[in-house]
Amino acid sequence: MSEMTQVAAKLTIPVNNNPEKPHQEYELELSEDSYGNLFIDADSINQLGNTRILFKDTKGMRNTAADESKISYIKPSGNNDNGVPQGILLYRGFDVKQLATHSTFLESSYLILNGEPPSKEEFKQFSDELKANRIIDKQTEEVINQFDRQTHATTIMSAALASLAARYEDKYNMASDEDRQELAIRMIAKMPTITAHILKHQQDQRTVSPDEELGHAANFLHMLFSTQAKKVVSDPKHIKVLDMILTLHAEHSFAASTFVARTVASCGTSTISCIIAALTALSGPLHGGANEEVVRMLEGITSDEIPDIINRAKDPSDPFKLFGFGHRIYNAMDPRAVVLRELTMNIIKESHEEKPSDILKTAILLEEAALKDEYFINRKLFPNVDFYSGLAMMTLGIPTNLFPLIFATARTSGWLAHIEECRKSGASIYRPNQYYTGWKFRPIGWP
Ligand code: SDX
Repeated sequence: MSEMTQVAAKLTIPVNNNPEKPHQEYELELSEDSYGNLFIDADSINQLGNTRILFKDTKGMRNTAADESKISYIKPSGNNDNGVPQGILLYRGFDVKQLATHSTFLESSYLILNGEPPSKEEFKQFSDELKANRIIDKQTEEVINQFDRQTHATTIMSAALASLAARYEDKYNMASDEDRQELAIRMIAKMPTITAHILKHQQDQRTVSPDEELGHAANFLHMLFSTQAKKVVSDPKHIKVLDMILTLHAEHSFAASTFVARTVASCGTSTISCIIAALTALSGPLHGGANEEVVRMLEGITSDEIPDIINRAKDPSDPFKLFGFGHRIYNAMDPRAVVLRELTMNIIKESHEEKPSDILKTAILLEEAALKDEYFINRKLFPNVDFYSGLAMMTLGIPTNLFPLIFATARTSGWLAHIEECRKSGASIYRPNQYYTGWKFRPIGWP
């Protein structure tokens, strides 16, 4: 990708108390990214004299590119599959909808981590290494088993990862490419096993070991649903659904949790510590915890209460937000939501289960009502990945409090790629400025 820089408009700033030179002139350079988006290169401000110009971007840094990246790209809108205006998400240039349909989560993970799709040999080696590292150690199992069974799965996962850090951090040298790569494989391999172990602990059941004969998604479902007494062989359709859910959640540019992972990596911290920090960010109800909130929201209403919930979401005095709607980047349907919506409908149609289909009916009615409402239309608020992902996971029999962990298990591939990119680029420590409006200096004069 060529980076075009050109001198942008000059910036003339009034300078106080300097009659000889009442104005100061700055030259700002523009940079253009791969898709022609223009950025003011903040470092290009020529600092004439000692006046410094900074950028104030205090609504969630929405106008700021914190770092350069080549991993994924999000087009806010611009696709129009079967008449539904939607955004576009590319992993290393490949459309995520194509990847979810025609490849597997592991192939997409390899692509996200390495920049290119794997050859047959590369994929065999990658998946064999993952299989060989699925098991978790006794110490991590014991950490999980210490928790009260009602503890939220994400809290237990944080502790389990801290136990992995205790075990591996001295073993791996973060300055070594090979060590970092080996640790990345371990993390991708163990996240499903830890997730399944947490579920078994919450259900007061004994854990089930990984099955070498099964692929990544099939083995994940096996560890979640088989018991010591009975091995559950999942429907191939469900295996494909879980694999697609993982692919769709694997990476999403500088989402809050990925930004946190990169921030912690920029401090020279080890990989597992970056993942723990990212998991904590992801668990927030406005981020990766939204899939759980969507299902709780839908379970809590009947279709005739939909107008009330829409009005609550629109009421500026009410902190309630319509979970699963809105996105910082997309101003059309989240392309992942389009795939997940179809997936969910197909599984529910075949399952004839009462509960998910009632909730799905409410979801579709709620979506229809919101998409017709001026408030949502004017703010370009569309369903995001979380609106249907919880429903899709529910139809697979995955309990609600595990939804953010399924999300985190998938996003571990994206986080690892960003941590590596941040390290490899030699990024400066992430330390933004502030917009200070507090006291100027005042002496401690005692009354
Ligand atoms: C994920 O960033 C990523 O990439 C994240 C993610 C990923 O893959 O990693 O895509 C995954 O986290 C998806 C988002 C899941 N969260 C939710 O579904 C929670 C509900 N959504 C909102 O909280 C909100 O839309 C956010 C947090 C997702 C985005 O917030 P922004 O970009 O800061 O939007 P905003 O608060 O500036 O909203 C602009 C306006 C405001 O109204 P006004 O002040 O202009 O009158 O839209 C309103 C907001 O009040 N608004 C909503 C709303 N989302 C925005 N109003 C009601 N319900 C909502 N859901």
